[in-house]
Amino acid sequence: MSDIAALGAQAETMIAALAKISAEPARLVRLYLSPEHRRAADLVAGWMREFGLTVSEDALGTVRGHWPGNGARKRLLIGSHLDTAIDAGKYDGPLGVIAGIIAAEHFVRAGRALPFAIEVLAFGDEEGSRFPSTLATSAACVGAFEGSTLALTDRDGVSFADALERYGKDVAKIPAAAYRRDDVAAYVEVHIEQGPVLEAQDQPLGVVTGIVGQSRLRVTVSGVAGHAGTVPMAHRRDALSGAAEMALMVERLAREHDGMVATVGQIAALPGATNIIPGRVDFTVDLRAMSDAARLAAVAELQARAQKIAQARGLAVAFEPFHDAAAVECAPALQQGLAASISALGHRPIHLPSGAGHDAQMMAKLCPSAMLFVRCKGGISHNPAEYASPADMGRAIAALIHFIEHFEPR
Ligand code: HGY
Ligand code: MN
Ligand code: MN
Repeated sequence: MSDIAALGAQAETMIAALAKISAEPARLVRLYLSPEHRRAADLVAGWMREFGLTVSEDALGTVRGHWPGNGARKRLLIGSHLDTAIDAGKYDGPLGVIAGIIAAEHFVRAGRALPFAIEVLAFGDEEGSRFPSTLATSAACVGAFEGSTLALTDRDGVSFADALERYGKDVAKIPAAAYRRDDVAAYVEVHIEQGPVLEAQDQPLGVVTGIVGQSRLRVTVSGVAGHAGTVPMAHRRDALSGAAEMALMVERLAREHDGMVATVGQIAALPGATNIIPGRVDFTVDLRAMSDAARLAAVAELQARAQKIAQARGLAVAFEPFHDAAAVECAPALQQGLAASISALGHRPIHLPSGAGHDAQMMAKLCPSAMLFVRCKGGISHNPAEYASPADMGRAIAALIHFIEHFEPR
């Protein structure tokens, strides 16, 4: 069995190197197609080359490190994302890319001609922190990239298409980024759990059974801006008070459904002055559930209840859905393989769903996909306090190596 301490120490060094690449000195922010994405992609490409992989980069900026194995046509894809949430932790995304690179290096160094190739993927747009899209880069790999994404703009009004061009990419080559189904055997992603289950069970690794479905929408509440001092309360059409009542309704709605979660993560009141009654509020809703039917019904119910609140307050409300990802089941055969590898390390494989979205959700459109979860301290994520121990990262990489050694492409 691999040297877990050495693997963990190697991963920790690489995690630390990537974590230094941020747009801001005081917090980790690495946005898709930003100068920081370029630097992170170049660092990862350098590691891939150093470890014996052949490097390419596709039309959406995904870095691909290829090792031919015995030259077989089928390849095992292993990856995750380099972009981060705002004020992020160091492990969410980079751990999966680094685990793939270190595992691939193990076989390159051993000169093992596996009966399949290995391709490590470093995606660039999983978090959706820059554009109101997410999973765009893995979508291109599975041939599901939507052209409408190119018109999306970031906070500065820069379009996705312009950002791609500035990054040196050619949109005409996006279709060529898609893998042929026959060329791919499976996709595996190593990722921190971002939840408390493994820690509570005192186990370092888990097998993901499925990934929740997600709906994200922007809600615009329109009222009448007015003087904070002269408009009597009974005459107000206060967009922020209406939005606040809606936000509490969103929370109540999710609580009514077991396992459902809903979050109002962004809110902006306009014109945004102390002495002006807000005339307009924009906020976002992120709603998730393992059942797509329950999720879609809840989104409809949310809109109906928001309309009622708006009507009672003399407001108008509009909805703009901007993300919809169906729940996916992780491939049972791959789950068994990962569970066997975790057991081979002497641990009890915990099977659990993922409440977070992942590129694996998109890759499941192309090939059997699965995820290996790694315990993280307090289940904390999307927070600079996010932490996975070198020992647990070493265990994850050892399990991934064991999984690869026993993987049989179908
Ligand atoms: O939001 C998510 O589920 C993922 O972490 N981007
Ligand atoms: Mn992630
Ligand atoms: Mn994340």
